[in-house]
Amino acid sequence: MVDDGGPADHAQLALNGTLPAHVAIIMDGNGRWAKARGLPRFRGHSAGMQAVHTIVEAAVQVGVRYLTLYAFSQENWQRPAAEVAALMKLLQHYVRKERDELIRQGVEVRVFGDRERLTGSARKAVEHIEQRTAGGSRMRLNLMISYGGRAEILRAARNIAGKVQSGELVLDDIDEARFASELYTADVPDPDLLIRTSGEMRISNFLLWQLAYTELYITPTLWPDFGRDQLVAAIREYQKRERRFGRVTPV
Ligand code: FPP
Repeated sequence: MVDDGGPADHAQLALNGTLPAHVAIIMDGNGRWAKARGLPRFRGHSAGMQAVHTIVEAAVQVGVRYLTLYAFSQENWQRPAAEVAALMKLLQHYVRKERDELIRQGVEVRVFGDRERLTGSARKAVEHIEQRTAGGSRMRLNLMISYGGRAEILRAARNIAGKVQSGELVLDDIDEARFASELYTADVPDPDLLIRTSGEMRISNFLLWQLAYTELYITPTLWPDFGRDQLVAAIREYQKRERRFGRVTPV
């Protein structure tokens, strides 16, 4: 686990060194944040939504090109119905509140996961934000909602099997690049940096294929407390890493 260290210089959002083009985040700890304050869990999620706003803005300023946020996992459907309903509402609220700002910042939003399970109004909100932000060229924001890494891989395998069955592909066509092109992230490079907040040392069924060579940064900070200084600290730590992709010398 890595400590966030001292506060980073606010003015220094222009980071020297190699920037991670793609940052993925497992946003964890909303419930603990609320509990520590004697608040209902929902208040932790609202504070978490505010942190999403802060981190999107900071990522754009730093120059990150792709930001992928784990907003709702397939497993999260098993939470109490009231919490699931509150999270669906929060998603709609996020879209209403942030849409114009995202367009202004040049952020293109895409949402990935099993949409069929979303409530009708949450699905509409998701379609709306995708349509309205399409073409934003400063940063791509991937919101993973009702998402599971194994389900994503299975879906890709099924698509490929279907193409083999129909004769569109033959077995020899199937290599890593072909397989990756059937994932939700077909047009997105693999994450350079994965951040997980609130200290858990797990991947939790997130981007199982894409994280193969990603640098991991796990911080005890709870998601609602994760701000721009913490993002800068994570990127600085990333810049110290030697990435070898399985080779002997760094690339
Ligand atoms: C994990 O905290 C967080 C979630 C399950 C939901 C993530 C949602 C947000 C950050 C807010 C909404 C975001 C958008 C984009 C609308 P937890 O509840 O598992 O926390 P705990 O482990 O401390 O209980």
